[in-house]
Amino acid sequence: MSFSIRKLDLADLDAIEAIEHVSYPTPWSRSMFVSELAKPSSLSLAAIADDGTLAGYLVLSRYVDAWHVMNVAVAEQHRRAGIASAMLRSLFQVTRDDAERGYTLEVRISNLAAISLYEQCGFVTRGVRRGYYTDNREDALIMWKDPEGREQDSMTEQDSMTEQDSMTEQDSTAEQDSTAEQDSVTRQGSTAESGL
Ligand SMILES: CC(C)(COP(=O)(O)OP(=O)(O)OC[C@H]1O[C@@H](n2cnc3c(N)ncnc32)[C@H](O)[C@@H]1OP(=O)(O)O)[C@@H](O)C(=O)NCCC(=O)NCCS
Repeated sequence: MSFSIRKLDLADLDAIEAIEHVSYPTPWSRSMFVSELAKPSSLSLAAIADDGTLAGYLVLSRYVDAWHVMNVAVAEQHRRAGIASAMLRSLFQVTRDDAERGYTLEVRISNLAAISLYEQCGFVTRGVRRGYYTDNREDALIMWKDPEGREQDSMTEQDSMTEQDSMTEQDSTAEQDSTAEQDSVTRQGSTAESGL
């Protein structure tokens, strides 16, 4: 199957909603997508299948010191065709001149498909947000990727374990507040929970 990538826009909302609702236990509302698409600090991509339908989308937000991957989803019938990884690569390409910012995201610790996707795209685990997801209090892994062309920091396994063990919910809130350049996106009324 071939697909093309373009900017996501308001005309995609019906198709986004259909994919979002089968992809997440706590899907983003339509108004959250409208709000993200309107922000100058957000970058969103659509993957379009051969037949012109929306196959997937990705929403990225610019924060003070990092690009935050807020939401990525692919329609079930188009999964494992390289669409999510192609959208991530496109975003790395579009933002490659921004030498100051790396990329970060949160992912449910049970979402092995997504964790594998992110690892394949160069993300590494940097910490854990305990009980981050409001539906089941599941922990989130915090993943990080340095800007393109920059070496990953030489963090040892020991360092990384220490950071995971010591990061409390309070620490993580402080970290989010310090990096937020814009209002935190909320999911079903919870605060500061990204779409992942
Ligand atoms: C996670 C998701 C976005 C992946 O999209 P995708 O287009 O199927 O991913 P890709 O085809 O680009 O896969 C790239 C790599 O990710 C990993 N991966 C993707 N899906 C996987 C799965 N179901 N099981 C194991 N590894 C998987 C593989 O390493 C894969 O490479 P490979 O196919 O060469 O083995 C998609 O499964 C999805 O929409 N899930 C529901 C929403 C979600 O969980 N989003 C992420 C929230 S953090």
